Amino acid sequence: MKTKNIAILTSGGDAPGMNAAIRAAVRYGIYEGLRVFGVKRGYAGLLDGDMEELSMRSVSDIVQRGGTILRTARCAEFMTKEGQERGAAFLRENGIDGLIVIGGDGTLMGAKALCECGIKAVGIPGTIDNDLAYTQYTLGFDTACNTVLDAINKLRDTMSSHDRICIVEVMGRNCGDIALMTGIGGGAEIILVPEIHVEFEQIMAELDNCRARGKYSSIIVLAEGAGYHTEELRARIAERMGGGVRATVLGHLQRGGSPSSRDRFLGTSWGVQAVRLLKNGMGGRICGIRKDCFFDMDIGEGLSMKKEFDFELYRMAEVVSNSTL
Ligand code: F6P
Repeated sequence: MKTKNIAILTSGGDAPGMNAAIRAAVRYGIYEGLRVFGVKRGYAGLLDGDMEELSMRSVSDIVQRGGTILRTARCAEFMTKEGQERGAAFLRENGIDGLIVIGGDGTLMGAKALCECGIKAVGIPGTIDNDLAYTQYTLGFDTACNTVLDAINKLRDTMSSHDRICIVEVMGRNCGDIALMTGIGGGAEIILVPEIHVEFEQIMAELDNCRARGKYSSIIVLAEGAGYHTEELRARIAERMGGGVRATVLGHLQRGGSPSSRDRFLGTSWGVQAVRLLKNGMGGRICGIRKDCFFDMDIGEGLSMKKEFDFELYRMAEVVSNSTL
């Protein structure tokens, strides 16, 4: 059966670049003669039947915007088999032959579940966390890293003026990629990630080492999943140092903002790629990129891969920042 109608949804945490993907999928879909529908608020909207047709014009002026015009949600009901069957039935009843799902791990697992209910779904990796093993980059990671670097630059100015130590807490859930990449780019003296446990005494030894080298201001990039509570860590270090320690939790700032050039390009390319797959009658696939090459693979296979932390890169960061961790 020829694909005629496709739908797009974004689910889970939003990520800069999602709008670029929506825009490209809508415009390329229409160019290919398809009707394209947008499901609002992710799987929650699918269960509520919240869907409308999108036009060329409806995706104007969004490529540069963060967030997602389709809006998003985290939906507990869709985690159940019953919810998934209901979502699939809604799509079938509305004549949707293909679905593009943009989101992170949980969202793409939802797409896989829909495939098991007979829906042709294609996934686009959209999360700032970069925690999907099968692809080198996810949509939004680059922009989030740039946002963090901008913050680190600003914090560096004031911290070094006051000879202070600053802990910068970054997102990433259980993945240390944002911390690692921004720790490298921001020249952090210490990078704390979930994948490597660093004892408190090691942190203190490194700060002492910095002082011995005449460095009185340091940046510690702390991933949210690294096993330290930011304020507790700040207080413990301050107690040992006799004050002069500040902490900044960047939080949801990292999720917003105009997407970087890379995220606009990834979103646009994956939007087109997903439509091509559906147009060719292919579902059950996820889009990715590795070494500058775009590819697609089986959704189940991709999602079952285990993310590996780049220990070599971490070591490189240590050497370059002259750390002894
Ligand atoms: O997965 C993206 C992410 O921003 C994580 O880095 C963070 O742990 C989580 O979402 C925050 O979720 P929420 O927006 O529901 O607070």
